[in-house]
Amino acid sequence: MCGIFGYVGLRSATPVLLEGLRQLEYRGYDSAGIATLDGGLQVVRSVGKIAALERRLRDRPLDGSCGIAHTRWATHGAPTEANAHPHTDCRGEIAVIHNGIIENHAALRRELEARGHRFRSETDTEVLAHLIEESYEGDLEQAVERALGRVRGAFGIAVMRDGEPGRIVLARRGSPLVIGIGVNEHFAASDVTALVRHTRQVLHLEDDEIAVIEPGGFRIARLGDGAEIDREVETVDWEVGDVDRGGYPHYMLKEICEQPETIRNALRGRIVLDEGIPKLGGLEAVMDEIRRCRHVAIVSCGTSYYAGLVARYLFEEFTDLTVEVELASEFRYRRLNLTDGTMVLAISQSGETADTLAAVREAKRKGALCLGLVNAVGSTIARETHAGVYLHAGPEIGVASTKAFTSQVAILTLMAVLFGRHGRLSLHEGRRVLTELMRIPELLERLLERRDEIAALAQRYADCEHFLYIGRKFSYPIALEGALKIKEIAYVHAEGYAAGEMKHGPLALIDPSYTCVALCPAGDLQEKTLSNMQELKARGGRMIAVATEGDGAAAAIADDVVEVPATLECLSPLLEVVPLQLFAYELAVRKGRDVDKPRNLAKSVTVE
Ligand code: M6R
Repeated sequence: MCGIFGYVGLRSATPVLLEGLRQLEYRGYDSAGIATLDGGLQVVRSVGKIAALERRLRDRPLDGSCGIAHTRWATHGAPTEANAHPHTDCRGEIAVIHNGIIENHAALRRELEARGHRFRSETDTEVLAHLIEESYEGDLEQAVERALGRVRGAFGIAVMRDGEPGRIVLARRGSPLVIGIGVNEHFAASDVTALVRHTRQVLHLEDDEIAVIEPGGFRIARLGDGAEIDREVETVDWEVGDVDRGGYPHYMLKEICEQPETIRNALRGRIVLDEGIPKLGGLEAVMDEIRRCRHVAIVSCGTSYYAGLVARYLFEEFTDLTVEVELASEFRYRRLNLTDGTMVLAISQSGETADTLAAVREAKRKGALCLGLVNAVGSTIARETHAGVYLHAGPEIGVASTKAFTSQVAILTLMAVLFGRHGRLSLHEGRRVLTELMRIPELLERLLERRDEIAALAQRYADCEHFLYIGRKFSYPIALEGALKIKEIAYVHAEGYAAGEMKHGPLALIDPSYTCVALCPAGDLQEKTLSNMQELKARGGRMIAVATEGDGAAAAIADDVVEVPATLECLSPLLEVVPLQLFAYELAVRKGRDVDKPRNLAKSVTVE
């Protein structure tokens, strides 16, 4: 959940490191720190965002062309300066930054203290600095290797030592690390987005690997036996502009507005309309195995989980598969009975979510075919699944997931049609769904033109204390997602419910302090949702309806209506979710929230 950046080369390290941290700030932002070798090891840290660290560095500039930097999301120990990374050993010669959790840190700390080591923080990370200090016999890489032999848990670390300038040692187990390759300079980052400003040539470290980067080169070896690893360099296809705000006040707004384009990217080259069939290159090698499967278990977290819930209806509509959708954090602890005909589909924007990754590993151990639907190219879930499909949505920086969700749903629709066309779905039906799916970007463009309308709506509801989102079938996961967005960035109480559940309890809550957001697109279930709306309205709450353009039925009940263009019912989530994203965004802005970096959250949840 934290961000790591490292630089060795010929330039002054500090500006490069700060720029790297700014790109990574979305991963964690309660404290930050930097260390360079500038006539000895120098460390500057501060509580708060990167801007606070920059202010510190103005008073105490650091020079040197080798350095490491970290932005933290606290796990062990409060967000204080003492707990911020880098952490150093007793002599202040070794600096360590770390993502992940050292599970046996308490026992190691007791041992180290008994041997005279002085700790200055409450973090699990600091044990690494002292262990490396104890293991040091003249070579930092070997010392890191020996120290890591003593720890249990997850780590992505970058280490440097006074006396070994121009050298950073990296190691990974469970927490991502990427090397960026430049000319006479090398970089390390926990996230590839931080590297594209400098280089597109990257190399992902795998679990249990150690690497050394120097200005003129790098090498990777296996932890344990030291075997050298020769891995092909990858070229990232993102542009620098993809990681900029591009004139928008927030990444979240930029990412909401990018959705027509990101859905086009998700569909590009993947539809053979004549045959009414999608072409998903990443699944071709396992298509025979997929055809033999009778059951699909979809695992994911947060917004990706809601995309999975949409997929349940899609798969049931078009294929003969039975479908279960499970939160990865629950799935991984179930006594799984994965029979031969089960495939597991992991959905993750980052491709690094700890619970989703653990679920994939457990399913693989039990012999299931594991597919991935991932945005971050080269991420751990992308590499560890047997096959998969990329979203090609570009980097999603705002902590609240928006464009990744719609790309996930678009590709899940392709998957459902693909699997369906190998079964009962007719050519005609396949073509009908795909033709309409290709129209979605254009419909979204129209919808996004009405941004001001949503901003005015948010203004009218800015004082609301409780939101209740309701929907049925395809709109049910969108109700959950709409409520999550409000909680996450506006810090306002919101719940998502299946509309049919109202009478089973939640109706008792409703009073004038509640606003109901009812998703009631035209279709078979609309009438039922309209009656739920009547019941809610009768209890005094205010009501916003999200309804199909030109449909007066919802307008007759609700106080306000947001119209979305007409489309197939199965594609309605792709349109309905967008005004809800915008509504949450506008509400959060009005409340002065830090939209891209909401409190207590980080973009990538790489710890359990
Ligand atoms: O990277 P992933 O898709 O695996 O992340 C899953 C969730 O952590 C993520 O969707 C989270 O719920 C978002 N912040 C929601 O906006």
